[in-house]
Amino acid sequence: MTGRVSQERLQAEIERFAQIGRTAEGGVTRLAFSPEERQAQQLMGELLAEAGLSVRTDAIGNLFARREGREADLPVLMLGSHLDTVPNGGRFDGALGVIAGLEIMRVLQEQGISTRHPLEVVSFTGEESARFGTGTIGSRAMLGTLNLERFLASRDLHGISAAEAMRQVGLSPEKVTDAQRDPRQIAAFLELHIEQGRILETEQKAVGIVTDIANSTRLAVQVIGRADHSGTTPMPLRKDALVAAAEMVLAVEERVKALGEAPSVGTVGILHVEPCVMNVVPGKASLGIDIRDIDFERKARVVKGVKDRITAIAKQRGVEATIEVLGDGRPVALSPVIIETMRQAAADLGIDARIMVSGAGHDAMNLATVVPAGMIFVPSKEGRSHSHLEWTDFAAIPPGVELLLETLLRLDRSL
Ligand code: GLV
Ligand code: MN
Ligand code: MN
Repeated sequence: MTGRVSQERLQAEIERFAQIGRTAEGGVTRLAFSPEERQAQQLMGELLAEAGLSVRTDAIGNLFARREGREADLPVLMLGSHLDTVPNGGRFDGALGVIAGLEIMRVLQEQGISTRHPLEVVSFTGEESARFGTGTIGSRAMLGTLNLERFLASRDLHGISAAEAMRQVGLSPEKVTDAQRDPRQIAAFLELHIEQGRILETEQKAVGIVTDIANSTRLAVQVIGRADHSGTTPMPLRKDALVAAAEMVLAVEERVKALGEAPSVGTVGILHVEPCVMNVVPGKASLGIDIRDIDFERKARVVKGVKDRITAIAKQRGVEATIEVLGDGRPVALSPVIIETMRQAAADLGIDARIMVSGAGHDAMNLATVVPAGMIFVPSKEGRSHSHLEWTDFAAIPPGVELLLETLLRLDRSL
């Protein structure tokens, strides 16, 4: 490997950003449109400006840093990821991809390398759906595919709407459409990310080259039973919303597992109970269900199976159940041209690469629908992610950043 990037510098930046929103357990909380996310965007902007780039923040809060190319009329080669996190998440998910962009700009500056295309490092806002139930907010706003009305009205756990949250950090919800860009301005998009799974570690591969990204169907289920006295209501006469919801949770697991070894996954990550007190039979329960697959038709079959079971359970228990489909995304294939460029570049650099799919969602999946997009993974320890225990050894990061740099330079010549 040529060794152009600095492991020390990458480590120092990862550690610096891990301080913003640091939790007692050593994790990071930087939710979408929180002061912590804004602080991280601000710091990243300052570091990119120091590296000689012109920095701007758009109407949704995405950060862009631009380095001009030799040929003024060419579209940009864009690279980056996100700096927001889930609550008490890790320091690598997202941040690594933006920090890798910064490192590459530093290398280009140090080595006096110019490119034909302009380059842009991007840090998309709100990639995680943790706060408002909508993920990849920034890249969707940029591409004009964010359902604005629904997004701005959505509320976090504390009842704060996305519109209010934006205003609290100085952004104007009325202006979100100003963030839209014509995809013809973008020649390609590249994202480096941690794997968040165990494949690279198990197979002792240095990097992953991603071919496809799984997508999710998200369901919000409301179960309406009847709130009653917990001491006086005989068991046969109850309409307990939580007991029905509990059966629904098991049904999600059962329907997904029925597929055997297929890479379908189903999760009930949200369960709210009302009134949630000791002496009342629960009258209401709401569930948030996330079902993902790399195959759209198979995902649709699982979702239908889950919906049918929910309806049947409700009927059997005499409760009402309504199912709202919050999102039904198509799995996305990444650019074959970029995959081949990465494969060749890895072979030439002597980096042991694994061709693989991504189970997690990324901003790249939105970009990939309109421009050539590619992703590189570096290994995660024990596959841990969306946890403060998420880890990647610092020595395992430079091969991914080298491959990102080499891919960028090759695409600059070939596109
Ligand atoms: C993003 O982290 C996702 O939910 O896959
Ligand atoms: Mn994540
Ligand atoms: Mn991520």
